[in-house]
Amino acid sequence: MAKSEQFQDLALSAPAHQQELWRWLYTELRAAIVDGRLARGARLPSTRSLARQYGLSRGTVTAAFEQLQAEGYTRTEVGSGTYVGPGLPDRSMAAKPSGAAPSLPPSRATLSKRARETLKTIAVLPASRSVGMAFRSYEPAIDLFPVELWARVAARVLRRAPRSLYGQGNAAGYPPLRRAIAEYVGASRGVRCSPEQVIVTSGAQQGLDLIARLLLDPGDRVWMEDPGYPGAWFTLRAAGAKVVPVPVDEEGLSVARARKLAPRAKMAYVTPANQFPLSVTMSAERRMDLLEWAADADAWIVEDEYDAEYRYYGRPVAALQSLDRSGSVVYVGTFTKMLFNALRLGFVVAPERVAGAFQAARSFVDRHPPTLDQAILAEFIAEGHFGHHVRRMRQTYGERMAALKKAAGERLGGLVEVADAAAGMRTIAWLNGEISDREAARRAQQLGLEVAPLSTFTMKYGHRPGLILGFAGCSPEELRRGVGVLAAALGAAHRETRGGVRTAEGK
Ligand SMILES: Cc1ncc(COP(=O)(O)O)c(C=O)c1O
Repeated sequence: MAKSEQFQDLALSAPAHQQELWRWLYTELRAAIVDGRLARGARLPSTRSLARQYGLSRGTVTAAFEQLQAEGYTRTEVGSGTYVGPGLPDRSMAAKPSGAAPSLPPSRATLSKRARETLKTIAVLPASRSVGMAFRSYEPAIDLFPVELWARVAARVLRRAPRSLYGQGNAAGYPPLRRAIAEYVGASRGVRCSPEQVIVTSGAQQGLDLIARLLLDPGDRVWMEDPGYPGAWFTLRAAGAKVVPVPVDEEGLSVARARKLAPRAKMAYVTPANQFPLSVTMSAERRMDLLEWAADADAWIVEDEYDAEYRYYGRPVAALQSLDRSGSVVYVGTFTKMLFNALRLGFVVAPERVAGAFQAARSFVDRHPPTLDQAILAEFIAEGHFGHHVRRMRQTYGERMAALKKAAGERLGGLVEVADAAAGMRTIAWLNGEISDREAARRAQQLGLEVAPLSTFTMKYGHRPGLILGFAGCSPEELRRGVGVLAAALGAAHRETRGGVRTAEGK
């Protein structure tokens, strides 16, 4: 059989509706080559005869041939014709019945060992489908965010932005935003830094990831608050660090215990302003001790101030970074909790000697943060809206916490004690009775509440059972409704386990 005759046997399926004809022909010929219906070295019919056979224009057939040639499926010999490429790999070219899939076996390539290990314990946060659900703890009051104002600032910034803002941005962040952040953390948190030390990140989480990758080697030990923020310990472990859980008491991370557990650790991760999730403030004594240890051990301190702006009692506590004289503290902050989650802008304040390394790392991780969003945020800060919003939210969150406490006092008495959070966006409902916090959370979740058991934040050191209740992102009505639902969930659980506990509600 002449090679070109082989082509006569090919049954090309009809083009799909509105499909470009050249693309249809190209796809059909490519499929015939890949699954072996057109053998290696086979000569394709001339463009003229193909055009006649299928009622196509010569131009259409030529376009399909050119595409096949450009992708290396065919080669053209001047004066002789077009041939199926001889160099295509054997196995993908094996002859098979028409329409059969290529013969390559299904891939068994797997995730890396590191990824498999890391992913074992990671919980992926769901995207929000509603706002203000009781007792969501990881969102601020999105219901009260001034979206009209934000939209006006955004429209103005986008209209006036020079074309250069649409080009490649600065890896460390948009300079006016870095200046605004340096000013803000200096005035509000006592952080001492120049704009050059500020690296704008995609939220605090990216800051933690950069820190882990830049400052740690696999096997390095890191002190980590227990209970503590899982997002930090996942990131540290993913970088190959050995996380050393350290108990937390009413003064914060126990530095004395940590010194015994791992004196030569390379890093300590702490949330001194408002410990996650116990909400204690690190004492001055512990702060000084921690700073001394870090300076002596040539270790880093990561200070995560994700929600330090919200303090309801007493004076704001200055950042640990403000006391650092040895350049050991890397400070992490985020706008996701101060404005809204979707903004995904945060920052790291790095000691001068490593700020350039952060900038370079940012450049290979994802080049730079989105410049236009940064420009909008910089303007929002410069015009005073940011400061105003944070002050308003501080007041509102204080009121929301009071509403939660009041409702809990009326309806949850006997079942839980809701702690008075001095700061932050959430508090703990300590459970009374025999029910575990996981069981309590499961029952509450079944009734539609968003509560997390405290035990999911512990690594090694057990804790009295408790539920994390967010209050900042929920209206007082939603908090009251949530408390009613929680009372029903816990009341039922207690009745089943102990044969009946009287609740304030049932009196
Ligand atoms: C203690 C702590 N650090 C960091 C983060 C991450 O913040 P971001 O959403 O800005 O990445 C969170 C988020 O809930 C947190 O609770």
